[in-house]
Amino acid sequence: MTTLMTGARANVVEAIGGTPIIKLNHITKDINSDIYIKLEYMNPGGSTKDRIGAYMLDQAVKEGTLKPGGTIIEGTSGNTGVGLAMWAAVHGYKCIFVLADKQSKEKIDNLRAFGAKVVVCPTNVAPEDPRSYYSVSKRLSETIPNSFYVNQYDNLHNRMTHYTWTAPEMYEQTKGDFDVFMATVGTGGTISGCGRYFKEKMPNVKIVGIDCEGSIVAHYAKTGEMCEAKTYVLEGVGEDFIPENYDFDNIDDWEIVGDKESFLMTRRLLKEEGVYAGGSAGAAICGAIKYAKKLEEPKKILVLLHDSGNRYASKIYNDDWMSDNGYLDSSFDVQIKDVLQMLNKNGKIETISDKATIGEAITLMDKKGISQLPCIDENGVIKGLVAEKTLLKPVMMGEFNKEDNISLAFTMNYKTINKNELLSNVADALLQKEVALVMEDNKLVDILTDIDVLQYLSKTRAY
Ligand SMILES: Cc1ncc(COP(=O)(O)O)c(C=O)c1O
Repeated sequence: MTTLMTGARANVVEAIGGTPIIKLNHITKDINSDIYIKLEYMNPGGSTKDRIGAYMLDQAVKEGTLKPGGTIIEGTSGNTGVGLAMWAAVHGYKCIFVLADKQSKEKIDNLRAFGAKVVVCPTNVAPEDPRSYYSVSKRLSETIPNSFYVNQYDNLHNRMTHYTWTAPEMYEQTKGDFDVFMATVGTGGTISGCGRYFKEKMPNVKIVGIDCEGSIVAHYAKTGEMCEAKTYVLEGVGEDFIPENYDFDNIDDWEIVGDKESFLMTRRLLKEEGVYAGGSAGAAICGAIKYAKKLEEPKKILVLLHDSGNRYASKIYNDDWMSDNGYLDSSFDVQIKDVLQMLNKNGKIETISDKATIGEAITLMDKKGISQLPCIDENGVIKGLVAEKTLLKPVMMGEFNKEDNISLAFTMNYKTINKNELLSNVADALLQKEVALVMEDNKLVDILTDIDVLQYLSKTRAY
């Protein structure tokens, strides 16, 4: 064995932390304040929860609650599980994770890939219900010998992670050059740990928590009263009880955001800023923008983004999922299939064989009253498109003869798109006067032109 190579970390746990802070430049154009984001998804396990996983388990070993050969048990929405599983892989421990069934498939698969056992519990039951993931985690830890129930909700090493590590790192990076710190809340560890540290260092800093509609946390913080929790879809944000990690004395203000605006903002973060983050990041930015709009003078707002977009590929970043759940409703964030349906297009399209002549194409277009004609080979593969405009001039100038093969008159001014794609993906092509050939399972099923989109818009919105 040699000494550790210069520049290398001893293992993946040692690579946690040191994530960058960047400025948002486009999403913020309508506000006077500046928003900076801490990219916690750049941790090796893809979230800020890598930190609490490593820190809570280091402490458990120190305190003797996690013993050699022990089993780590946790109720986790996924991210903490990854942090714990990573630490367990490095240090040689077994893990069992208990998840609510609303969690994305990616998160569940990911934990199983670490070799962990995953138990999935129903979402819509009260925490004290024996089927809830809180109850199941607790019961497992009581029945499995030599097990350690991490309990990120009430284990105060969670908020200490952020007090001793995440917040000092941000303070060191920025030298305290910000006015407001904001983060979404779940267990309360991030906001409470960072809040306490920043308040000690910067007496004028404002700490603002971002909660979601349906959660009870912000309501409790503002009124001291418990209310009934409602179902929501955002993952990692909000709670239906108040975990011990909350330190409300260090939280000055609250913003509340909904599922839909959060998901749309998550997608904008990627499209407009190139930031591939999870749904709680969209929630955080919605909250930060709401807060910024109320400020009397421009401030520097630092927002911690908890996790990566990878874990939401089948949900927030999936057009079908967004559309099916009613989260896409702008005129252009609609799927092509829905546009075609609204226009009552019956999918019966005229095509012509690639063996046909220019004369035959003109006759067919004239007879059917159509301006463009896709040309296909005997296997149904699109070979090109003939359009009125590309035919007219050469025919008038005598460049083409009626008997010439149709391929001489092809225009490549078309785009093929899938039926499930969003209208916004073809908007540019249509503006360039291209025709969109709509495909399903590699077969041509329809044609979408600029006139179709105009018709669709006139039916769906007042302009
Ligand atoms: C994606 C995501 N965002 C936000 C949070 C909230 O952070 P905290 O639990 O530190 O309040 C969590 C916590 O599980 C999370 O997984």
